[in-house]
Amino acid sequence: MSFPKTIQAIAINKNGEVDVINKEAVPFPEHVPGNVIVKVNYGGVNFIDTYFRKGLYPAKSFPLTLGQEASGTIAALPTDEKVLNDKQYKKRGLKVGDRVAIFTSAAHAEYASVPWVKVFAVPNNVSLITAGAALLQGLTALTFITESYDVKKGDYVFVHTVAGGLGLLFAQLAKHRGAIVIGTTSTQEKADIAKQHGADHVILYPVENTVDRVLEITKERACMSSTMGLGRIRRFKFIRRKGTIVCVGNASGAVPPFPPLKLVEKNLKLLRPSAINYIVTPEESLQYGTELFQLIASGVAKINIYKEYPFTTEGAREAQTDLAQRGGKTFGKLIIKIADE
Ligand SMILES: NC(=O)c1ccc[n+]([C@@H]2O[C@H](COP(=O)([O-])OP(=O)(O)OC[C@H]3O[C@@H](n4cnc5c(N)ncnc54)[C@H](OP(=O)(O)O)[C@@H]3O)[C@@H](O)[C@H]2O)c1
Repeated sequence: MSFPKTIQAIAINKNGEVDVINKEAVPFPEHVPGNVIVKVNYGGVNFIDTYFRKGLYPAKSFPLTLGQEASGTIAALPTDEKVLNDKQYKKRGLKVGDRVAIFTSAAHAEYASVPWVKVFAVPNNVSLITAGAALLQGLTALTFITESYDVKKGDYVFVHTVAGGLGLLFAQLAKHRGAIVIGTTSTQEKADIAKQHGADHVILYPVENTVDRVLEITKERACMSSTMGLGRIRRFKFIRRKGTIVCVGNASGAVPPFPPLKLVEKNLKLLRPSAINYIVTPEESLQYGTELFQLIASGVAKINIYKEYPFTTEGAREAQTDLAQRGGKTFGKLIIKIADE
């Protein structure tokens, strides 16, 4: 198959506010011999896109195509003989035309070149829009409730910003394991949505005292706490002895330095994992990808799409602005429609 020399992509040429984002022509992504070329239909929007745009996560070079996840169809397979004969690769049975979700950089473009380990087959009864909306947040929620802290029946799990795309998945998957889920969000409407997705208790953080409310509910029995930063250190008060705090992201700024002695008081575990480092080996990607799509296909994990944004400069800028509005209107997932199916 012959491919164009350039493609349209959502890219930045320098770091800055949303006005540095443009839809523009970039070179066709290099078909590295171990990579799969995917024709993209939907690109999921994530906070990490804002970190690359602002420079919190540095770009290797400019123009930098944004986007860390997408869905589409396979346009070309790897060419490396070693890959083609790899047992794990063969297990996937990937073919040109297959519907896939991808966990890769430079995903918000007409085509993406993806290491084959980061290509996930989409089951027939899961739509491409759902797959594009589910992958990054779904793998994050699933790996964190398995590896960062193995959530079990009866555990109290605290999820900050529980009505976001990631929060709704945390709530549903932890609930499915039998946990009691406590979340925070900014508005009553978002609290109702979180409850429909498995949150047992939702705290409205602008008007309620989160720590007092969690203590009231758990009597200091919270086992796992997700937090966006350690700024709100009072959270240590509600985590139980030997509990786990999982520092999830940088939405409210980069995590500040932290004195480990603070952990001694209750022999706490503190982690700052990244989903991508849980999905490194072919075995890990097959295991978690298969489990995630089974949870979606069986209806355990519902992917709530807040809005589909157009593949335009304005659409991409609006999506990032909407996502990063604290106490904003969005809930669930924001997605850019890159091409018709
Ligand atoms: N470690 C990892 O591997 C990993 C993977 C995925 C995501 N993350 C992190 O998880 C967090 C959620 O990211 P996401 O992309 O998945 O989005 P998301 O869950 O859809 O989060 C959107 C929600 O975040 C809240 N929010 C918006 N602006 C905020 C701000 N300035 N400060 C604090 N909260 C804000 C809003 O909820 P309220 O209205 O309720 O405040 C909004 O509904 C981010 O910190 C991200 O970096 C980490």
